[in-house]
Amino acid sequence: MTHEPINKSLLYKLAKREYRYTQDLPSKPDPSIGTVLVTGASGYIGGRLIPELLSRGYRVRIMVRGRSPEYHELWPSVEPVYADALDIDQLRAALDGVHTAYYLIHSLLLGRKDFEAADLQAAINFRIAAQAKGVKRIIYLGALGDMRTKLSSHLRNRIRVAEELRLGEVPVTILRAAIIIGSGSASYEIIKHLVNRLPLVPIPKWALNKCQPIAVRDVIKYLVGVLEIPETAGRSFDIGGSDVLTYADMMKTLAEVRHQKRVFLFVPFANLGFYSYYASFLTPIPAAITGSLMEGIKNEVICHDESIKGFLPFEPLHYREAIVGALTREEQDNVRTSWFSAYPPAHELAIKLHELAPGPQYTARYSILSRKNSWLLFASICKIGGKEGWFTHNWMWRLRGWLDRALLGVGTSRGRRSQTTLTISDVIDFWRIEDLKPDIRLLLRAEMKLPGKAWLEFKIDPEGDRNRLWVVAHYYTESFFGRLYWYIFLPFHHFIFSDLIRQIEKRS
Ligand SMILES: NC(=O)c1ccc[n+]([C@@H]2O[C@H](COP(=O)([O-])OP(=O)(O)OC[C@H]3O[C@@H](n4cnc5c(N)ncnc54)[C@H](OP(=O)(O)O)[C@@H]3O)[C@@H](O)[C@H]2O)c1
Repeated sequence: MTHEPINKSLLYKLAKREYRYTQDLPSKPDPSIGTVLVTGASGYIGGRLIPELLSRGYRVRIMVRGRSPEYHELWPSVEPVYADALDIDQLRAALDGVHTAYYLIHSLLLGRKDFEAADLQAAINFRIAAQAKGVKRIIYLGALGDMRTKLSSHLRNRIRVAEELRLGEVPVTILRAAIIIGSGSASYEIIKHLVNRLPLVPIPKWALNKCQPIAVRDVIKYLVGVLEIPETAGRSFDIGGSDVLTYADMMKTLAEVRHQKRVFLFVPFANLGFYSYYASFLTPIPAAITGSLMEGIKNEVICHDESIKGFLPFEPLHYREAIVGALTREEQDNVRTSWFSAYPPAHELAIKLHELAPGPQYTARYSILSRKNSWLLFASICKIGGKEGWFTHNWMWRLRGWLDRALLGVGTSRGRRSQTTLTISDVIDFWRIEDLKPDIRLLLRAEMKLPGKAWLEFKIDPEGDRNRLWVVAHYYTESFFGRLYWYIFLPFHHFIFSDLIRQIEKRS
């Protein structure tokens, strides 16, 4: 067997193409600032802030709830701490010796009923622990909105979190933003999918409300900038992009930029619950997030205070530029973080295969012997899903995806963050990567609606001078319907997985 001298890390690890949002920031790195803690490090904003802080020479500690080797691979110099903000002792340990803490925690995925209480408790704990540990500053990214008006539960919650954090002695800098536009951001994905999927886009009356979207790069610039300007401590700032637009304008601009001919039709029917379901059905964003974000559309979110410009005088991007930036990142296959990057480790779907007691009840194995080397086979496995599809019987995968969407599951439209790189916790359509051992194993955990828990495992075992390529489906259920589901789908599995494995081998 021969091994090609190819750099495997290019395929499996996150692309490390260097570009920095903060290159032209008017502030300068401050070497007197000690350890900087980034909470929400697994999230959309946290994942983009960390490399910027590192590039400016800061000592960074990241706070996450779930242990994963991906953090060390992404940022070898950061110090990871494992803490849940709902556990004050864990927070105290995480904040020990910290100079400045970024507060980027929120729990929208818990759903409307539960996220408010969880977020408030997390903020109270954080304030108490930060004060006890003598933290010098907290920087919080919250949301725009006027508490004197009737705000959506999401916006109200973001403002109440700010108020809770400010009750302590540690000075808090609050940055208040409307929707954030960038590759992988939830709001951008909703707008993009609605425009993509609908030749005739309905415009209810609340889509004519005003909003001041901001590009993700400008958010990161403000987050880093306020750290470097001590006078911003203890103050609250509105941050926004260079345009005030209606939601209808945003959809129209996106269609224009993409040269998509769309008819925008004003409709008198304005039931928000219906539109939330409809948006959740047409986009890959889970109902828990779409519902909260859509509720916020009823409120005008524009900046009333421009004082941040006195401290950080740069021109934020226009909405159109932010859209072009996001589309470019997608084309370059260089999306750094996405709305699906964060995933609560306590979520019942996050149970790992090896944690399952007494183990999966059902297993179906399919294998073939190949003369090809393990690197080629593994590279072929790593191409599945997203734009490439599932190599064979794609219509069946799509049908399963639509069924999942109808049940408000994640469906297949999440695709992949990148078509050329994979890392643990990445999403592949309705799967999430649980384990990735180059040339040996790729384990995917199902996140679609199922009457049980399922995993799909790809393995390569050497056998003499050849390699055995395996696809193994694991399934666990406690219900009668769950068992029925397994047996109904077993013949399809046989058909799909046997063909899939042959295609993987053929394409490798
Ligand atoms: N994205 C936007 O469009 C937008 C717009 C305006 C303002 N913001 C604000 O920006 C901040 C960050 O947002 P984001 O989009 O980056 O959020 P995100 O991607 O959903 O990430 C949320 C983070 O919170 C963490 N978290 C949740 N509950 C926690 C707990 N109990 N203990 C510790 N960590 C916990 C999650 O960690 P796990 O991995 O452990 O779940 C995750 O890293 C939020 O305050 C949000 O309001 C965002």
